Amino acid sequence: MGATEPQWVLMATGRSPTNIAVIKYWGKRDEALILPVNDSISVTLDPDHLSATTTVAASPAFPSDRMWLNGKEISLSGGRFQSCLREIRKRARDVDNEKKGIKIKKEDWEKLHVHIASYNNFPTAAGLASSAAGLACLVFTLGKLMNVNEDYGELSSIARYGVWKCMPQYIWWICEMVYGKNDDGSDSMAVQLVNESHWDDLVIIIAVVSSKQKETSSTGGMRDTVETSPLLQYRA
Ligand code: ADE
Repeated sequence: MGATEPQWVLMATGRSPTNIAVIKYWGKRDEALILPVNDSISVTLDPDHLSATTTVAASPAFPSDRMWLNGKEISLSGGRFQSCLREIRKRARDVDNEKKGIKIKKEDWEKLHVHIASYNNFPTAAGLASSAAGLACLVFTLGKLMNVNEDYGELSSIARYGVWKCMPQYIWWICEMVYGKNDDGSDSMAVQLVNESHWDDLVIIIAVVSSKQKETSSTGGMRDTVETSPLLQYRA
């Protein structure tokens, strides 16, 4: 960047509640594309209690993509973050922010780097679906920054590159993650079954007995099951 070029920062913030599966998926039919062996059905929780809040910023002054989770820098080199960034950048559109006097052409998004800061208001990686909330929030917020068409089905199918059981959740209440049949995962996405007024007297109590990180990650546990359990096919 030349010294005379104008420097600016454009930001967007989003929040996604976590969701708890009542019918859980377990096992992936494709590890790279994160495609599950069965559908799942989840209930969205109150974002005031369990949610991820993510701010994304883009600037010509940023030399690389970087991310901080709960105040600590984490690596973005993992496939799931790279896939989400790639898929969102592909769908980015022109941005014309009159208030800040910033114009970005859709092809510029390929070259612009982002800084991402995310906070969970509940224990991370402790069995409360933090990755689901985090990845949904990341995709939703990047979509907001890059002016991506707000099609929640499509956003959920991008977030699926990061983690399966996730969707930009405000509008979802009870939703089904459809496992899909296509090898490329194009028909795997979230579908709303009923909205938040369907069961307005439902109360979910979450008692956190330990905020320690899980010893076995869901990804590792599922891989072991797929590799060793002859019973998985019957569960699916
Ligand atoms: N994994 C766990 N929490 C996360 C978050 N808030 N954003 C992205 N990935 C996460």
